[in-house]
Amino acid sequence: MPQLTRGILIAIEGIDGSGKSTLAKNLSLSLEQQGFNTTLTKEPGDSQLGKEIRTLVQTQNIPISGHAQYLLFAADRAQHLSERIIPALKENKIILCDRLADSSLAYQGYGNGLDLEMIKSVNKWSMQGIPIDLTVFVHVPVEIALERCGKRGALSPYEKKEFLHKVADGFEELYKNRTDVIIVDGTESPENLNKQVCSAIEQWIKNKNLLS
Ligand code: ADP
Ligand code: TYD
Repeated sequence: MPQLTRGILIAIEGIDGSGKSTLAKNLSLSLEQQGFNTTLTKEPGDSQLGKEIRTLVQTQNIPISGHAQYLLFAADRAQHLSERIIPALKENKIILCDRLADSSLAYQGYGNGLDLEMIKSVNKWSMQGIPIDLTVFVHVPVEIALERCGKRGALSPYEKKEFLHKVADGFEELYKNRTDVIIVDGTESPENLNKQVCSAIEQWIKNKNLLS
């Protein structure tokens, strides 16, 4: 059984319908099969507080300003860190997060026009300064992602073409020239994506000498 010398924090990012949740679940299963201990989490909504916040931001049936909306995501993130991520890091697990801080930069920053520097600094604070080791960016054209979202059910307030184009461009901008980001083509089959990312994660662990 491979034993890690420390926990590893992995974020899975992409626009709505890109296949993040599917990939996160598959990765968790495959890495567990390789003998790693994993924790699967998501934003927003992976704590009791987070579920309340998720309902508020998803239904949007009360007025929420852009600034307030971002702070709700940040509050969800702070709770996610305290309740889920920090305990799992202490247990030397691989934590697979279906969205994390970069979603706020892409959606509230590039999508809604909030100040990027402000978001970066509040993100850092809500994450208690804990760095993300690796990010997996699932790249899918907006039209394909929206088609998938439509099949899944009623579209959420975020799932609009023009808005998602801004978000998608934001992710591209954030992830250009980055060595800590694995970019995959989300139009490939779930099985291929899982294989590719799983071996990239295992290789990264070896390169960093994180096996005891
Ligand atoms: P996200 O978490 O990014 O919103 P999901 O994993 O929920 O995306 O996937 C959205 C929809 O697309 C689901 O119906 C899912 O079954 C389907 N899907 C996921 N990954 C793929 C893929 N690689 N190819 C085709 N369809 C996919
Ligand atoms: P969810 O259903 O979890 O996403 P997906 O459709 O990708 O499975 O919905 C979360 C929504 O919240 C999604 O549209 C992105 C948005 N969001 C932000 O706008 N900012 C954030 O910081 C986070 C974490 C999510």
